[in-house]
Amino acid sequence: MLHFLDPCDPFLSIRSHEVPVAEIPSPEIQGLIDQMFAIAKGEREDLQKKVAIGLAAPQIGVSQRIILVDVGVDKDRKKMGELKVYINPQIVWKSDELEEGREGCYSVDHRLSGIVSRPKSILLNALDRDGNVIKQEFTGFTARIFQHEIDHLDGILFPDRIGKDGILHWVLEEEFPEYRKTWQSWPVKCPWEVWLAMKEGKPFEFFLDDDPFSKKKA
Ligand code: NI
Repeated sequence: MLHFLDPCDPFLSIRSHEVPVAEIPSPEIQGLIDQMFAIAKGEREDLQKKVAIGLAAPQIGVSQRIILVDVGVDKDRKKMGELKVYINPQIVWKSDELEEGREGCYSVDHRLSGIVSRPKSILLNALDRDGNVIKQEFTGFTARIFQHEIDHLDGILFPDRIGKDGILHWVLEEEFPEYRKTWQSWPVKCPWEVWLAMKEGKPFEFFLDDDPFSKKKA
């Protein structure tokens, strides 16, 4: 059974392979898609916790350009939408207008979130699991999920999009309901150097002197 790779496994930084169209009906690809759905759905039971609203095959150790995206979720997670599969997804157009939003990821330390600026709207080309062409425009939160998942296919993790001058947050599991409401002004920042150490699998230590909640140690 496939499972999530450890955060910052070097495999997560590699570009994944295109799926040859002729292989889409094969048991290997269809079985992989079934396993991706099973894994993602297993992470969607408790809406209070972090839930999987997207999944990319490389996150579970498979170098194939296949993603799942929840195309109906609202950004406050008050309701789940429906997970759909997209094969060889490509962003063929993106808006000049950018939007900031919070992101986290099953493939980085679960305490790390941050503010990522991305194009607000995209036009997506992809194939479904029957090989049919999908061409669809997405905007807002859904467009963000697609961009995050397609980044996984290119070996890019969300903190890399944020960059060293951006904002990384440190959020404990029990703080998550609060974070969803107040992320824009979240006071607990994670230093860029801590992310770099995590990414390289090095030990890291991080204390906050004026942490408004409590002292935290990574
Ligand atoms: Ni992710």
